[in-house]
Amino acid sequence: MDLATTFPADSLTNLRRNLRRWYRKHGRHLPWRAASDAYRVWISEIMLQQTTVTAVIPYYERFLSRFPDVHSLADAPEQDVLRLWEGLGYYSRARNIHKTARRINSERDGVFPEDVNSLMSLPGIGRYTAGAIASFAFDRSAPIVEANTLRLYCRLLGYEGDPRSTAGQRLLWEFAERLIPRRQPGDFNQALMDLGATVCTPTEPQCQTCPLRSCCHAFAQGRQHEIPRLANKIAMTEVTEASVAIRKRGAYLLRQRGDDERWAGMWDFPRFEIDGDVSASTMQRLTDDVRKLTGIQLCNPRTLKSIKHTVTRYHITLRCLLADYDSGRLHRNGTPLKWVRPSQFDDYALSVTARKFARALGAVSKPE
Ligand code: ADE
Repeated sequence: MDLATTFPADSLTNLRRNLRRWYRKHGRHLPWRAASDAYRVWISEIMLQQTTVTAVIPYYERFLSRFPDVHSLADAPEQDVLRLWEGLGYYSRARNIHKTARRINSERDGVFPEDVNSLMSLPGIGRYTAGAIASFAFDRSAPIVEANTLRLYCRLLGYEGDPRSTAGQRLLWEFAERLIPRRQPGDFNQALMDLGATVCTPTEPQCQTCPLRSCCHAFAQGRQHEIPRLANKIAMTEVTEASVAIRKRGAYLLRQRGDDERWAGMWDFPRFEIDGDVSASTMQRLTDDVRKLTGIQLCNPRTLKSIKHTVTRYHITLRCLLADYDSGRLHRNGTPLKWVRPSQFDDYALSVTARKFARALGAVSKPE
């Protein structure tokens, strides 16, 4: 596809003018737009990756009141950052935020770089996030392509190929680059995102009220419902796991998940994949696995409840077991282990299912 032919200069000028006019009237008022400092833009954009605006707002507000600037974030223990992120998912985002804050604090005296390439050298900052920070916070003419703008660009161009392929990505970034104006590029990028999110929506695009319909190739051909081409549906995998809460004098054993595990850095009850139902032989195997992992011999295991949870491409059924401490000492050389009383569970960043399990345990625990 030749962009100069599909979108000649006068169409681009028209598009920019119509979009700006629309944004002045219909742009969304979102908490991170009130102040455009790089720190706030960065935190909001990382939270908004793979997460909806509605889900992000309360997390963003809590995060900013606890960590109002890059120094406070850099000074905090990683656990505090993960605790505030709990429930938002994709926890590597929180760990990267913490690493980046420490780097900006120690190597750059707390000052963010302003250009896309320097921003992209920081942990967790890809081309999109770098473009968002450079344009929203520093008024740089940096292009963006994220979920909403990807759909909008594909329809404007009438692009039938796969927008996630290398060729598709190259084309969309090139288009974004041609589109971005020198004047107020930040507002312009926000306007593109808002139009994608509220008018050029995935299933029922509001073409009749769209300010860009006169230059939209998909609309001209009546193909707005077929574009963009959908990603292949990912196959879901069913997984059954067992999580064991071992009780010793009113406290339960928690384990911090390792760097090579799902939900790295989060705390959890010792957890293992199992074949299905918890048979007597499964109980025996779990008892052995717990001893190998933690050093603790448990006794009297029994099933408390089952929890269903979906994460990325996994449907997880979690069998929650309760057991008593029998003997043994905690291993000191593996992932961190701790005996924690239910009244202290709130101080730990737990996986979503571990939090549910912890709440259920709070209900069955006798007063300490
Ligand atoms: N999605 C990703 N970034 C966004 C932003 N800044 N505003 C609204 N939606 C977004």
